[in-house]
Amino acid sequence: MFYEPKNPHGLRRNPFKSLVVPRPIGWISSVSRDGRVNLAPFSYFNAVAHLPPIVLFGCNGHHLEGGNKDTLDNVLETGEFVVNICTYELREKMSATSEHLPRDVNEMALAGLEPAPSRLVRPPRVAASPVNLECRVITSVKLPQTDPEEPNTTVFGEVIGIHISEDIITDGMIDMTKFRPIARLGYHDYTVVDTVFTMRRPG
Ligand SMILES: Cc1cc2nc3c(=O)[nH]c(=O)nc-3n(C[C@H](O)[C@H](O)[C@H](O)COP(=O)(O)O)c2cc1C
Repeated sequence: MFYEPKNPHGLRRNPFKSLVVPRPIGWISSVSRDGRVNLAPFSYFNAVAHLPPIVLFGCNGHHLEGGNKDTLDNVLETGEFVVNICTYELREKMSATSEHLPRDVNEMALAGLEPAPSRLVRPPRVAASPVNLECRVITSVKLPQTDPEEPNTTVFGEVIGIHISEDIITDGMIDMTKFRPIARLGYHDYTVVDTVFTMRRPG
C-alpha cells in the first residue's frame, strides 16, 4: 500500500507511530521559572550526536489548558532539562506521568518518584532511573503544524552531565540485561530491551 499522510490511509488506526520503531523514551524532568517541577515522557526523542553528546525531543500537541505543554514552556524558559531513561520496572510510573494535568501538578511527586538533585542543572533527576542526562538547551525549531492549535517544536540539548547507576555496569560496560530500557511502539504497545546481538563493522 501507499498513502500520502495528508490523505486517508484506509487502515483501522493511523499506522505512522508503528513504523519508525522502537522509539526510545526521554522521560524529561524540568522546572518552571518559579521552581515548579515537571516530569513527562517523550518518544519523539533520540541521541543525534556524541561529540559532544546531543539529544533532541519533539513536543507535539497542546496542554490541557491550551498553549505549549509544560515541558516545552519550562525548557524554553530555563534552558535546562534532564532526560531520565525509563526501565521496564518503572513503566507504570512513567505512564502515570503522561497524564494531562493542570500546570501546577508535580508529576514526579504524583507518581511517587523520589527526586535526586542534579549537579549542573536545576531540574531534579528521577532517583530510580539508572541513567540521567543533564542537558542544556542548544536550540529549538518550530516545525510545520497541521493544526494551528497544536504546537510542534523540537528541542536540541547538549548533554553536559551523565549519571549511571553502578547497578547496570558489568566489567566496565553497560549491561543491557540489567538496564532493561523500554521503548515505544505504536498504538498502546511498548518493547523492552532483553535481547542483544553483536555484529562487527567491516574493515
Ligand atoms: C510513552 C509516551 C511517549 C510520549 N511521547 C510524546 C512525544 O514524543 N511528544 C509529545 O508531545 N507528547 C508525548 N507524549 C505525551 C506527553 O507525555 C503528555 O502530553 C504529557 O502530559 C505532557 O506533559 P507536560 O504538559 O507536563 O509537559 C507521550 C506519552 C507517552 C505515554
